[in-house]
Amino acid sequence: MVRIIGCTKSEINFATKSLLRGNLVAFPTETVYGLGADAQNADAVSKIYHVKGRPTDHPLIVHLSSTKKLSTWTKNLPEYSLKLASAFWPGPMTLILPRSNIVQDFLTGAQDNVAIRVPSHPVALALLTEFELQGGLGIVGPSANKFGKVSPTTANDVVVELSLNLKQQDLIIDGGTSKVGLESTIINCLGIRPEIVRPGAVTPLMIEELLGITLVSNASQHSYSIRVPGMMKSHYSPSAKVFITGEPKKGDGFIAIAEIPTPIGVIRLASPKNNIEFASILYESLRLADSKKLERVVVVPPKGDDIAIAIRDRLSRCSYKE
Ligand code: TXA
Ligand code: MG
Repeated sequence: MVRIIGCTKSEINFATKSLLRGNLVAFPTETVYGLGADAQNADAVSKIYHVKGRPTDHPLIVHLSSTKKLSTWTKNLPEYSLKLASAFWPGPMTLILPRSNIVQDFLTGAQDNVAIRVPSHPVALALLTEFELQGGLGIVGPSANKFGKVSPTTANDVVVELSLNLKQQDLIIDGGTSKVGLESTIINCLGIRPEIVRPGAVTPLMIEELLGITLVSNASQHSYSIRVPGMMKSHYSPSAKVFITGEPKKGDGFIAIAEIPTPIGVIRLASPKNNIEFASILYESLRLADSKKLERVVVVPPKGDDIAIAIRDRLSRCSYKE
């Protein structure tokens, strides 16, 4: 049975040593929980693919404690990527950057680039800082769920997802509920202009305002210049069938912004007051549908050009397709 630990200094030290020995450590971030491994240890990284049931050509995000560590992993960075890094890190953003020589093919699906993120969750930062102090260079961390399933936003979700697959020596650090609740915005920084390949809490408007540009490619068009395997059309799915159109039937789960009334006979799973709250409770509410053994959940996609873009993106991927 996998062990859950807290986030005192000695527990972070213990988790660091465990990572450096090649074990897996699930850790909290402000987006979702990650399944961590030493990014330089091929055996540890292969355990991640095995535990998640994920195809090995799907690249992994390397998490760092600070933008200062970027030069170890990357080279020839475009100016705009540095502006993005200083504006939005630590935070819910991942940059795809040209990789340096230390990056090995087992992290990147043999692509000539690497995905980097500096998370803002204090426990993630404490773990990364300690890991780097003790000689590590970075921690890879895909979301700590089975391939294609809903990302976890609490330590207990990680237990439900992965406890059958994790080993006794692996750990889960309990750092509370992930505040953002949706995975990071991924931005391709390999071209002359940035391209959002997975929408998240860092929105197109925020990027356009920072860089003074208009983003050409829209993530909802699903046409990217690089391969992003996690952006397949079916992903982030609970066991219940999710519907984003049509009328709910009696006994269906129902998720919608608070001002939308509950149709008669349905089970209201969440009534978020705004889009930020919608993002933070979406995955938890889909998990609730599964724990109630509901067969169907109707979700009314929120409107807006803020984090609602990311919510609609995940809903379109997890919703039922005939
Ligand atoms: O919020 C997040 O990003 C979370 C937390 C734990 O940091 N992590 C996360 O990782 O969502 P993951 O592996 O579940 O999703 C990352 C996505 C995958 O679809 C992966 O294929 C893609 O990013 N990706 C990673 N590195 C890439 C690269 N070098 N080029 C293109 N896509 C990449
Ligand atoms: Mg994932």
